[in-house]
Amino acid sequence: MRLAVIVTAAGKGERFGAGKKEFRRLGRGTVLAAAVRPFTELEPPAFIVVTVPSGGSDAAAEALGPDLARGVRFVEGGATRRESVLHGLRELRDADPDLVLVHDGARPFVSPALIESVANAAEAHGAAVPLVPLVDTPKEVDGSGVVIRHPRRGAMKSAQTPQGFGYRALLAAHESAEADGMDCTDDAEIYARYAGPVAEVQGDPANRKITFAADLEAEGHASDPVSGARVGQGWDVHRLVPGRLLMLGGVIVPFGLGEDGHSDGDVLFHAVTDALLGAAALGDIGTHFPPDDPRWKDADSGGLFRTALGLSLAAGWEPANIDCTVILERPKLRPHVEAIRAGIAAAAGMPVSSVSVKAKTCEGLGPVGEGRAIEAHAVVLSRKF
Ligand code: CTP
Ligand code: MG
Repeated sequence: MRLAVIVTAAGKGERFGAGKKEFRRLGRGTVLAAAVRPFTELEPPAFIVVTVPSGGSDAAAEALGPDLARGVRFVEGGATRRESVLHGLRELRDADPDLVLVHDGARPFVSPALIESVANAAEAHGAAVPLVPLVDTPKEVDGSGVVIRHPRRGAMKSAQTPQGFGYRALLAAHESAEADGMDCTDDAEIYARYAGPVAEVQGDPANRKITFAADLEAEGHASDPVSGARVGQGWDVHRLVPGRLLMLGGVIVPFGLGEDGHSDGDVLFHAVTDALLGAAALGDIGTHFPPDDPRWKDADSGGLFRTALGLSLAAGWEPANIDCTVILERPKLRPHVEAIRAGIAAAAGMPVSSVSVKAKTCEGLGPVGEGRAIEAHAVVLSRKF
């Protein structure tokens, strides 16, 4: 079975607005690269045509990147999507595939599973279209602002791409549609009008089309964490001395020694505070709470953390999760870990499930291993809000 694919990317994107939507960045590539890539991985390889605006093949090749661009042929599209697909179909005459899949270049979330089910159904039935249930109740209007029909929502579905067809039948249907100047926005309708019935395949709600700028902005945060999140790292060490309490995350851990220090010495809160400030690039704990300032003598480190949290939130960075490691030789921390997690979570206003505390010994090595010091490491992921 010889398979060909037409990816349409010749539109003007008028509803999207500034810039061509298919060439916009998405994750590590572009919308178009994501829409084309799964088709380049088909076995056996498919013949792939991409419709582009007049003079747009260099820009399309750049949007695809050299690896993907090498595997496709660019064809100039037409004034409408129907015409663009017709140009693609004509380009395939010499290849004369058995089946052709037509896919929107503006649908970057297409899955290999959907491609496979459309191709299988098109092979079995001659034509196949993926459909998803409507979310909103549909209305038919007369163009003058009056609703003229109230179709049952359950009887209506939305069409996605890829749509699959016998190649020769779709080409003939498209030539007829061209001769009639038919006005339509998908190939299933053309096939149904001139060639025959189209089978339904279950569509994929994730396979959304990028139509408006907001469709991509919403994606930006989900698929490109770098634009919406930042990581911060923190570390601290304190001597362990008699006559002080061992404070960890605001919890007093019973032990004969405690952290030396100007504040209450809570080595874990200090590491977490530095990580939080680091994620927001707001300096470090010493910048905000200088150790020589008498205000911070014996200060509650949980309070310092909450002050740093206020600074971070004011800068628009909200912690999403915290992970830390405490390194100490004795005592065993395991019995206290849940209380410490809860202490940090409460100070951070986060669920306990977003705070992780791990404990390690130093295998007798160095000052920590000899029980003369305690060390803490922390990372915080903060998201922009
Ligand atoms: N398309 C095409 N040739 C056209 C019109 C559209 O190849 N003359 C492509 C678009 O590039 C898009 C796909 O068909 O990938 C689906 O069309 P649509 O989402 O409507 O995109 P545009 O027509 O570009 O957008 P708009 O309708 O908002 O102008
Ligand atoms: Mg359009």
